[in-house]
Amino acid sequence: MIEDACQAHGAEFRGRQAGSIGIAGCFSFYPGKNLGALGEAGAVVTNNEELRNKIQMLRDHGQAKKYHHALIGWNARMDGIQGAALRVKLKHLDRGNQARRANARFYDQHLAEIEEVILPAEADYARHVYHLYVVRVQERDRILQAMASRGIACGIHYPIPVHLQEAYRFLGHQKGSFPVAERCAEEFLSLPMYPELTKTQLGAVVHELKTLLHASNKAYERVL
Ligand SMILES: Cc1ncc(COP(=O)(O)O)c(C=O)c1O
Repeated sequence: MIEDACQAHGAEFRGRQAGSIGIAGCFSFYPGKNLGALGEAGAVVTNNEELRNKIQMLRDHGQAKKYHHALIGWNARMDGIQGAALRVKLKHLDRGNQARRANARFYDQHLAEIEEVILPAEADYARHVYHLYVVRVQERDRILQAMASRGIACGIHYPIPVHLQEAYRFLGHQKGSFPVAERCAEEFLSLPMYPELTKTQLGAVVHELKTLLHASNKAYERVL
């Protein structure tokens, strides 16, 4: 198993850190991530030496030795400046994750009683680091726009499921092939989430969302 841990820096599953469970784990350090660089960056972690050597070659045009190309690779070397920034920011990752978790608890507590919204659940054997705090609502697009008009930027992660992406059309799937994924893509709404959010900001998000959801007065049809 290769783990996509791109949104999971510091997350845990049954006592193990995300990225350390499979044969390899992939991390994105895109600036908005829990551990973000100053530009594009990422890393693969593995305990498998053979795989490590291969990945190190692949990222460097397939070279094991300068100008000797044993594999067809690509240029995916991370800039040193990104490594330098990440090294400093890594020290603050845990604190940032704790702040994200506290923000998530605020949303959990203040939205718990609202019938029109489904909240993310954290299993008791896992530690979520809330790169995103994704709720599900009906009439998502209306709510997204109304929140934006009140100065609150929410997001959609992600609006188009993989099987409906143009790139995967050759697999022959269509609308209806994966109804759960399709419904999720229509209902997902990411609320503002970053460590520095203040209680006042969190309170404003909750207040506006509740007002909008109550106005729609549509109890959630919990069919999934
Ligand atoms: C879950 C997940 N996987 C992979 C990626 C891709 O990361 P990158 O854009 O750094 O290649 C992202 C980035 O948004 C992600 O969230």
